[in-house]
Amino acid sequence: ADEKNHHRSLIVELLKRHNAVLIAHYYTDPEIQSLAEETGGFVGDSLEMAKFGARHPAETLIIAGVKFMGETAKILSPEKRVLMPTLEATCSLDLGCPIEPFSEFCDQHPDREVVVYANTSAAVKARADWVVTSSIAVDVLEYLAEQGKKIIWGPDKHLGRYIQQKTGADMLLWQGACIVHDEFKFNALEQCMALYPEAAVLVHPESPQNIVDLADFVGSTSQLIKAAKELPNKQVIVATDKGIFYKMQQAAPEKELIIAPTAGEGATCRSCAHCPWMKMNVLQLLSQVFERDDNEIFVDHDLAEKALIPLQKMVNFAN
Ligand code: 13P
Ligand code: SF4
Repeated sequence: ADEKNHHRSLIVELLKRHNAVLIAHYYTDPEIQSLAEETGGFVGDSLEMAKFGARHPAETLIIAGVKFMGETAKILSPEKRVLMPTLEATCSLDLGCPIEPFSEFCDQHPDREVVVYANTSAAVKARADWVVTSSIAVDVLEYLAEQGKKIIWGPDKHLGRYIQQKTGADMLLWQGACIVHDEFKFNALEQCMALYPEAAVLVHPESPQNIVDLADFVGSTSQLIKAAKELPNKQVIVATDKGIFYKMQQAAPEKELIIAPTAGEGATCRSCAHCPWMKMNVLQLLSQVFERDDNEIFVDHDLAEKALIPLQKMVNFAN
């Protein structure tokens, strides 16, 4: 505990000295999220993080999350320095969608608009017409479908299928998945629901179809927090990364939050859903963020210019 307190006070002091602000995702550990809150920084979903960073006057943005979030911050604010506790924190969706095969896939269907999830590399974003996050994906695809546009969607196959069903858009799907959400299992969730029959079931749309089918509410991280607060149920079962419980419990202090099981058997969680890359954002690395020289985000100039176009559309669409 002493060591943690030491890291915390060091970080508070360094943020001030370097005119820096800490921006954390809901899936990082509570001690990172609370530090962002206490230092005038921000905790939110990937779209809110992007907007907050772009608008904030600090010279340096510290992004606690995964690499695509740091790259998005840098592309939106090229004049700012963007640091991360570690650049090793990636995402299975980003890893599962390398630019060469994805670009070939797009080339094979030149009549289609390319819409990609924010969980992608700068190069994939540069190849896209639109970038979306889960909080605006359905609305953007509805808007494009109304104009009769045909779509290539990547990389998350579950989110793609969910949007397709919601909007009726004509979409070709890249076959990527999130290793965290892909682990929620139907039988185990049904058993969990039997244990808590009064509970509402909240599901992130990166989850498989049979999990989404059991949901009372499907939405992005911020939308799930809002639903936990607003639904009348006293208990909620949540199928997303357990890091979200920190802010969800703040928003709904009187509710009992239950994480959906991932182990494939049994009704309660054994190896609770927690992203291995989000977990890499630890206090110790954060306290060294200014002294190391291997954790600054740089994006190739040409790629950044191209990726800025669909990213700007993302930010503007949500306004
Ligand atoms: P949100 O856009 O809902 O924050 O999701 C990002 C993410 O990585 C989900 O796994
Ligand atoms: Fe990527 Fe899934 Fe981790 Fe989100 S939870 S960063 S989608 S691997």
